[in-house]
Formats: sequence, structure tokens, C-alpha cells
Amino acid sequence: MPLDKNLIDKIIKVTSTAAISCHKFVGKNDKEKADKAATDSMRNEINKIEISGKIVIGEGELDEAPMLYIGEKLGKGGNLEVDIAVDPVEGTNFVAKNLPGALSMISIAEKGNLLNAPETYMEKLAVSNKVPDDATDLDFSLERNVKNIADALNKDIKDVTVCLLDRPRHKKMINKLQNMNVKMKLISDGDVSGALMVTNKKYNVDFFLGIGGGPEGVLAASAIDAYGCKFQGRFIFDNDKNIYRAKQMGIVDLTKKYNLKEIVKGDSIFCATGITNGDLVEGIKIKDNKYITETLVTHKGSNMCKIVLSEDTIKT
Ligand code: FBP
Repeated sequence: MPLDKNLIDKIIKVTSTAAISCHKFVGKNDKEKADKAATDSMRNEINKIEISGKIVIGEGELDEAPMLYIGEKLGKGGNLEVDIAVDPVEGTNFVAKNLPGALSMISIAEKGNLLNAPETYMEKLAVSNKVPDDATDLDFSLERNVKNIADALNKDIKDVTVCLLDRPRHKKMINKLQNMNVKMKLISDGDVSGALMVTNKKYNVDFFLGIGGGPEGVLAASAIDAYGCKFQGRFIFDNDKNIYRAKQMGIVDLTKKYNLKEIVKGDSIFCATGITNGDLVEGIKIKDNKYITETLVTHKGSNMCKIVLSEDTIKT
């Protein structure tokens, strides 16, 4: 069943308030304080909404995250039972160092419809809806994926742009892409934004791939669902603790490739508010004693993909 559109404004308020709360920590070189401010604010705002919510992607497990931990029940109550995925600050480094691209984000879906992702890495790929579904796969070679994308988009390989996190673990992939003469967009953080860049030609990204956080994979899948883009993910379990947690969460096949519809079943609402300026949205601005925020909103149920501007009077 589609989620009620009336919820959208309330969800925008959650991320815009969190972004504003975090704004005073931009450039203060303190990731923890920035994250805590956004997390506390998010929790407070979600608790004002008439939903019976449960955090499925949050700030960690109960023992390590006192706020917005996985399993925490949130909301004012009511008949609408929802799963909630949050990343109060996506790009904590960006906030701490006053760099572009920090976002506050959330996704909600009906109860049982968001994949419960363990706090582990995930191999991911995302491509635009202009590329046929069977043209890319995590099990294809890099060369095959890139060639298929180039063919589908009627481009030379040298004009295909691949976005990935600039990490030592991607060294082999980066070398291969370089040898193939592919154009790269190497991001220092923020791979939800990386995935979102396949949604529109204006971002000049044809293919997003690489290993990043599993929880961010769920948020990315929800974000791009309304654009009809492809997302695929596969968790990486490289220690006993993660394997134990995955099994507790009900993951039986540890090597499973998840397609978007297995990560986000049915309808979802995704909101990401800019904290610092970025490719997707502008960061917090102050004008006439007001905070101005920009939020990217996607809602599969109403085919909505838009940027919403909001104002909030600065309280003294
Ligand atoms: P945080 O904002 O939580 O620090 O995450 C930023 C991020 O870049 C994510 O976008 C990405 O999925 C993950 O970190 C990658 O992890 P790592 O920094 O360990 O490579």
C-alpha cells in the first residue's frame, strides 16, 4: 500500500531540523558532536509524528548507540507501523572539515519492507534507468559492466563516468578503470550521494560501484527507487561478530545478491537535507533570521522526486 503523501512534510521536518541542529558544528573538527546533535534532533522530531516506528537502520546496536539504535521504537503511536532507516549525518567528515556534500537522511517504509542491514560493508552498484536491467551485475567483470553501459547509452568507453569511493580497497578497480580509459569520479565520502548521481544526466555519472557501508546501501536503494534506477548490493562478512549479527537479523544466505526490490519492498519515502553545499542539494543558509534548508525528497508511491525548500525561524 502506498504511504500517505501527508507524511512527507513531517519527514522533511525530521531531516531539516537535524541538519539545522548539526549546522553549528560545521568546520569544528568534531564528528561526534555533529552526529550527536543531528541524532538527538532526529529522534525528537520522529517522536512527534503519529506513527508506530521501529529503527531498522540506525546509529548502531543498542550496546553501542544509546540513540536511534537498531530496534528502537519511535513515533507518537498510531495504526501506521513503519520501518525507519536513518543516517543523521551522512558524511560526518564533511561536517567536521567544512567540506561539501554532508546530508541528513531518512527513509521510511511500511513495517517489514526495509531490509535490516547489519553494520558491515556492502558491495554495491547503481545505474540509470536508461540501462537495461540485465546489462549490469555484481558478478560481471568490470570490463563487461562498463562495456554494456557504454553500449546502452551509445557512448564511447572513454566517455563513461564511473563514481566510486577513493579507498585503498578499490585500488585494483581504479587501476583497471584507468587502463580502460574510463572517466572516474572519486569521492572521499558519501556513497549514498554517489549512488544518487546515476539518477540524472546533470550529475554526469553513468555507473556507481564499489564497497561502502551496508546501512548506506539500504538508504541509497530507497532514494533511487522512485527514479526507476537499478541498485544491487551484497554484504561482506569478514568476521565472526558480523556473521553472528547477520544471522540474528535473519540473514541466512551470507553471499546473497540483493536487488532493489529485495532491499525496499513496496513504497518508501526518502528525504535528504543538505548540511553543507553539495551536488544534490545546497547546505543550510541563513537569511533574515531564518534557516533555509534544501531537501531532496523521493516518494515511489506518488512518483515524486523533487527538491523542497523550507524555512525555520532562528530561535534566540
Ligand atoms: P559517515 O558519515 O558515517 O562517516 O559515513 C561516510 C561514508 O563515506 C559512507 O558514505 C560510506 O558508505 C562509508 O563511509 C564508507 O566507509 P569507510 O569510510 O570505512 O570506507
